[in-house]
Amino acid sequence: MRNKFKRNQAPWEFVEKYYKDDLAERHSVESKWAFRWFREVRGPNVLSWGCGPNFYDDALLFPNLPKEFVGVDLNKENIAFLKESTHSEVLRCKRVLEEHKTKISLSIGDIRERQEKFLNRFNTVYAIGVLGMFKEDKLNKLLKLAYSYLKTGGRLIDVDWTDCRLPKEKYEERENYEWYSKQGPGIQRIGELMRNNGFKTVKQGIYIVRDPMEYGWGKIYAFVAEKSA
Ligand SMILES: C[S@@+](CC[C@H](N)C(=O)[O-])C[C@H]1O[C@@H](n2cnc3c(N)ncnc32)[C@H](O)[C@@H]1O
Repeated sequence: MRNKFKRNQAPWEFVEKYYKDDLAERHSVESKWAFRWFREVRGPNVLSWGCGPNFYDDALLFPNLPKEFVGVDLNKENIAFLKESTHSEVLRCKRVLEEHKTKISLSIGDIRERQEKFLNRFNTVYAIGVLGMFKEDKLNKLLKLAYSYLKTGGRLIDVDWTDCRLPKEKYEERENYEWYSKQGPGIQRIGELMRNNGFKTVKQGIYIVRDPMEYGWGKIYAFVAEKSA
């Protein structure tokens, strides 16, 4: 069994730095490529798995703001950051969602654990920089869960960074916080697992990074998969 006490929780400073670094990179070709996939989010009920500190910002990239927006994350400071940060961009995005009367639900939790209340509830389940870190058996279980949480015709969107070139220390820090791990299967295998679990691939893409050592990653990939009838 997984030792829940072995890893460390990411501290607020790490979460805040991650948010600020992402914000500073927003106009890079890599971020723009990743953001394109947010336009594939559909429907009023949306679940973000491993939502991290970008949860509110993500929603402003959807084609339509959701009516219900649920975020789950294992690192409690991500949820604290979303609730308590006074960063102007966090507050701006939060305000847009409030004005739209989006019902927000944030919780600390492990996406590997089944939530009865999520069954057949969502039009979209999305995970950005999350699914690719899990070993094949765990990923397979996650895909089954995503399938069960989606309404028929609903979408699973996975955007992930792979071919990790982060410096050793940075990688180890992320692994320790369960923020990222190199243990996941390859891109092609992830597509196969989706199909084996009943998903139909609607769109997929791979972006080859021009300067992997500078960026820290060699590839970004994305899948939009549908729970067909
Ligand atoms: C690379 S970060 C991505 C965060 C965010 N999705 C984004 O796009 O910025 C990975 C996130 O997955 C979360 N995470 C990792 N394992 C998890 C699990 N088993 N259950 C819930 N969240 C998890 C981490 O806490 C972290 O917020």
